[in-house]
Amino acid sequence: MLDRLQELHDEAAAQIESAVTLSDLRDVRVKYLGKKGPMTELMKGMGKLSSEERPKVGQKANEVRESLTGKLDAKEAKLESEALEAKLQEEKVDVTLPGRPVPKGGRHPLTSVVETIEDVFIGMGFTIAEGPEVETDYYNFESLNLPKHHPARDMQDTFFISSDLLLRTQTSPVQTRTMEKHQGVGPVKIICPGKVYRRDEDDATHSHQFMQIEGLVVDRGIRMSDLKGIFATFVKEYFGEDREIRLRPSFFPFTEPSAELDISCALCGGKGCRTCKGTGWIEVLGAGMVHPNVLRMGGFDPDVYSGFAFGMGVERFAMLKYGIDDIRHFYTNDTRFLSQFKHV
Ligand code: PHE
Repeated sequence: MLDRLQELHDEAAAQIESAVTLSDLRDVRVKYLGKKGPMTELMKGMGKLSSEERPKVGQKANEVRESLTGKLDAKEAKLESEALEAKLQEEKVDVTLPGRPVPKGGRHPLTSVVETIEDVFIGMGFTIAEGPEVETDYYNFESLNLPKHHPARDMQDTFFISSDLLLRTQTSPVQTRTMEKHQGVGPVKIICPGKVYRRDEDDATHSHQFMQIEGLVVDRGIRMSDLKGIFATFVKEYFGEDREIRLRPSFFPFTEPSAELDISCALCGGKGCRTCKGTGWIEVLGAGMVHPNVLRMGGFDPDVYSGFAFGMGVERFAMLKYGIDDIRHFYTNDTRFLSQFKHV
């Protein structure tokens, strides 16, 4: 029996030695040391041994078991560390490889244009005001000298939410909201950028949602020439020194007199081309002297105060500055378009 034990030991030791994988090793462990293995089988014969032989065989069996367990554990540790090493090798990161570029976003061109225009006006002492996009009929129309059923309401097709609530069609309601805050005391000198909504059919130059920048100046002795001076400065700062402006009579219910502001066409330098429809001039905004009714509804005394207001389309400014031919580009979020404005 002692010989048989030694034989089993050597046999198992050889198999441990030649095991290549952890699962080979597990098989050897089960085969030789498991409950159904030859060792267990052999031990069943212990009963038949003499009392002298029994302790010797018992001791030998323990030695074999211990030796094999030791070999198995050692080999297992070796195979495990080899496997880990192989895995580390395989997953090795080459820190000298060039990095993959991470696409970086930029500001939306409309945001950039608004910020540039804001900067110019802040430089002239204006502050930035805000107002809600969901407006009441009172602020969007009535307080701007547009009582209910006034025909000029049709100039701006409106998205009504209820008979009194609507999506503002213009940033002009912020005029009244700002004047109310000043409680009849000037000066007021604000611009207000924001989204406006109109029931327009979308095409290359119309969108049901677009942006405007409203401007309002109210103080003692404000005149039309102040409006003209502010714009001459603004247009030269924004579009360039060589641009001229002109005011053309127009009509808005909340300004009297009202004017449309044109700038000289950059493409033809004022000679007349397709972009300016042969006139040499491009219309960029509506403006005028604040109507006495509007001053009064905003809490200002028109006998003491006067003011001017203007409203410009942000998309139109962006299109003119960057030569963009379709307003829908601003809203379709094509990154090929947007990425061209990362640096502006
Ligand atoms: N609110 C006018 C529009 O949307 C523009 C405007 C503003 C005209 C202020 C005059 C004064 O067309």
